[in-house]
Parts: sequence; C-alpha cells; structure tokens
Amino acid sequence: MSKVFLAPMDGLVDSLLRDLLTRVGGYDGAVSEFLRVSGTPLPLRSFRRVCPELDNRGRTRSGTPVVVQLLGSHPERMAETASRLAKLAPVGIDLNFGCPAPTVNRHGGGAMLLDDPELMRRIARSVRDAVPHTIPVTAKMRLGVRDTGKTLECARALESGGVASLVVHARTKIDAYRPPAHWEWIARVRETVTVPVIANGEIWSVADYERCREVTGCKDVMIGRGAVADPFLARRIRASLDGGLREETLDAEWGELLPLVSEFWMRVQQRVTPRHAPGRLKLWLNSLRRRYPQAESLYHRLRPVIDIQEVGSVLAVPGDFAD
Ligand SMILES: Cc1cc2nc3c(=O)[nH]c(=O)nc-3n(C[C@H](O)[C@H](O)[C@H](O)COP(=O)(O)O)c2cc1C
Repeated sequence: MSKVFLAPMDGLVDSLLRDLLTRVGGYDGAVSEFLRVSGTPLPLRSFRRVCPELDNRGRTRSGTPVVVQLLGSHPERMAETASRLAKLAPVGIDLNFGCPAPTVNRHGGGAMLLDDPELMRRIARSVRDAVPHTIPVTAKMRLGVRDTGKTLECARALESGGVASLVVHARTKIDAYRPPAHWEWIARVRETVTVPVIANGEIWSVADYERCREVTGCKDVMIGRGAVADPFLARRIRASLDGGLREETLDAEWGELLPLVSEFWMRVQQRVTPRHAPGRLKLWLNSLRRRYPQAESLYHRLRPVIDIQEVGSVLAVPGDFAD
C-alpha cells in the first residue's frame, strides 16, 4: 500500500494546520517542524510545544501519527535529547539533514551536514542507540550542499547509522525551493540503499504524484507546500489509488474548505497575540490562492486588515468574495 506523508514546514504548518489537514484526510503520517538541539538540554515542554500530539499518543485528533523532528550537528547532544524525548513515547524520531536556513547552517546544522557524511552517520547512530528499538529513527535529507557529488554517500551513511527510512527532498541547499525537483536523483538513492526511500519535492497535483512515482520508483511520497495550497490533494491521491477519482469542482471544494479556514482563524487567535493572528491567516490564504480564486479574492480583501474584529467580519460574509 502506497503512503502519503505531510512534510514538516517550520513557520507554515504547526499542530493546528496538521490537525485540519489530516482531518480532511489522505495522510498516513506527518512530521513535526524541527526542534533545534544546541548546547543546553531541551525541557520536555519544548517537545510538547512543537508536537502537542505527544499528549495524544503522538497522533492528531483524526488519528494520524506525527513523528518529532530533531535538528543538530552534535551526536552526543542529539542522543541525549532523543533519549529525553523517548520518555514521551513519540511514534518516531526524524533527523533533519536539509534545512537551508542561515541561522541553522551557521552552527553546522541542517543541510550543511551534507558535506560530512561520516558526521551524519555518527548522528544517526548515536540517536538510534539512545532510544528503545520500538521507536523508529528516520531521516530527511536534501541532495547536497552545492551539488550531488555526495548524495549517495550521504544516503549510505544514514543507512549505516541505522535509520529505518529516508525522505529525499530532491534539491540541494543552494537550490533552496526553486523548481525543478530532481526526482531522477531520488531514483538513484533508492537503488543505492535498502531502506525505504520516500520521494519529496514539487508534488502539487495528482498528475505530479503519478509522475514522481514513475520517475523515482518510490512507493511513498511526502508533500509539503502542495498540501497547504491544496488541502484536498492527499485525499484525491488516495481516491485515485482506490480507483475512484472523483474530481470535485473548485466551488464544491471551497465550500468544504471555508469552514476550516474559519476554524483556523478562531483557533489561531487562541494561540497567538492579536498582532500576529491576522498574519497567520494571510500566510495560509497566500498558499491557498495558488489553487482557489476564492482564496485569492479573500486574501486581497484581508491583506490591508490588521484588526482582528475586522478580519472576523470579512470572514463572516463569504458571499462577498465567492465570485
Ligand atoms: C516554510 C517551510 C518550512 C520548512 N520546514 C522544514 C522543517 O522544519 N523540517 C524539514 O525537514 N523540512 C522543512 N521544509 C522542507 C519541506 O519539508 C519539503 O522538504 C520541501 O518544501 C519540498 O517539498 P514540497 O516541494 O512538496 O514543498 C520546509 C519547507 C518550507 C517551505
């Protein structure tokens, strides 16, 4: 059975959006945004902050398992952190070898590690050895820092470090998020290691999903920005696999989506300050307008609005932006 995972996206997808997207359906699992491991040991509340699902047996309310992602470049500190995290019984621990953010890279973490496969192996091995075998340790990597010269070596290093599976985001660090994703390199990784490889990068539609599987030969995929822009994508993929692809009209989808956007708005106000809440809503709408003209028009109406009462009134009159 082919699986579809929701990608970690720090600053874009948190537990609230994970809750809504996995409720729409089609996802077999998700990964939390990364938790950075630096000099000082992380208190248990940090794990619960990025992954409140830990208090629900590591699952979203609709039952989708959420793996906690750690990012760091120091094997012993990563191991110590993983061992603390293990006390909260996560459904899995994922290791980040792909983040291109300068604040993270400056300390040698995330994508910078792709220059040092031996260090990647040691990180994976230390974490693997630090937690009970009932907790899978997985990894997510890019193709390299600047080029693909060490891609296969990195994948082999993670495999020999004991990871149970490997997500490959088919771009280098310097590619950032620019298309294309080099799916043919995922195929090469899959042919190189024996652990399952999950394909990631530039899946925005069911057609992309099908082509990605064809090119990579991977059974399973992970979807990032496409999941936020199109909350029904995973469900459509699942339906197509079950042989019953039923394309809804955009209007019908929007009719189902609008209550979720309203719920998002209600709940985001409980989480962040009134100053930050409108920005969070606009961030999601900005993604949604890629697919939905209704979101485009709502986004434009909300763009200048900073007052939360006013945001509420715009959302309460959907007829005004339905055309
Ligand atoms: C805003 C943003 C935040 C991200 N944060 C993370 C992260 O915390 N951990 C991680 O492994 N990847 C992170 N990624 C990378 C995504 O998980 C994914 O690999 C990438 O977006 C490619 O997939 P896509 O083309 O389907 O979006 C992030 C991507 C974006 C756009």
